[in-house]
Amino acid sequence: MRAGRQSPARLVPDGIIPPDYAATGTPGDWVEALVRPPEVIAAVRRASRAAAEVLAVVGAAVRPGVTTDALDAIAHAECIARGGYPSPLNYNGFPKSLCTSVNEVICHGIPDDRALVDGDIVNLDVTVYLDGVHGDTNATFPVGQVDEESRQLMAVTHECLMDGIAAVRPGRPISDIGAAIEARAHAGGYGVVRAFVGHGVARRFHGPPHVPHHFDASATTIMRPGMTFTIEPMITLGTWRHVMWDDGWTAVTADKRRTAQFEHTLLVTDRGAEILTVAG
Ligand code: MF3
Ligand code: CO
Ligand code: CO
Repeated sequence: MRAGRQSPARLVPDGIIPPDYAATGTPGDWVEALVRPPEVIAAVRRASRAAAEVLAVVGAAVRPGVTTDALDAIAHAECIARGGYPSPLNYNGFPKSLCTSVNEVICHGIPDDRALVDGDIVNLDVTVYLDGVHGDTNATFPVGQVDEESRQLMAVTHECLMDGIAAVRPGRPISDIGAAIEARAHAGGYGVVRAFVGHGVARRFHGPPHVPHHFDASATTIMRPGMTFTIEPMITLGTWRHVMWDDGWTAVTADKRRTAQFEHTLLVTDRGAEILTVAG
């Protein structure tokens, strides 16, 4: 992959309440309780549902010949249609409303004028800011006919996400999640990206806790009912190491082999996890 041309900035209509960073590019680092108050949980539920709906609509538009910029336009419009702000837009200066990560791009790919090609795989990462909080979800989609190795990669990556979710249990450390993901990935000979992690999500797009996708003994936060965070494993056909493009956003595998990702926003419950990023 290489960088294409970006379209001009997309506008958000008056009446959509923007997050703090929309004008400046710089998010505040306010302290939020990790166990969210009930009204925050209710709002994360609504934002997450909206994000899941937007992801389904954008994902349905994936086909050979569609540019990632066209997918960005759909994501932008679908967020606004639900009364939400597309969280990526101007988050730390990110220029678009959706992240589109193709083939060896791990995450944070910037939509541009490149048309998807038969055989590509593309991750679409949608985050919606609604009712004062964010909901964050992504999935990797095949473009036309994809080779068997890529199909397996996507399937294993989804299994890694679901194994990570199954490891969520109140009273247990966050490191259980990465342990479960890593066990599944390594059994198949896959790599687990370390540089990008799951994260607390509520009023802040990215806050504590860190949720590593590999086993990291330093992830000692004990899971408690009422926490909301993402799990979003990035699994590779080869190395876990990444390289950044000089655009400051696009992260690619160091060996240029393919990588896939799936993400949900979760609520820790009394028994385990509830997936909030499900369409209504
Ligand atoms: N949605 C991504 C995540 O899962 C973050 C995107 S940040 C952006 O955490 F600035 F690139 F949009
Ligand atoms: Co996320
Ligand atoms: Co995301």
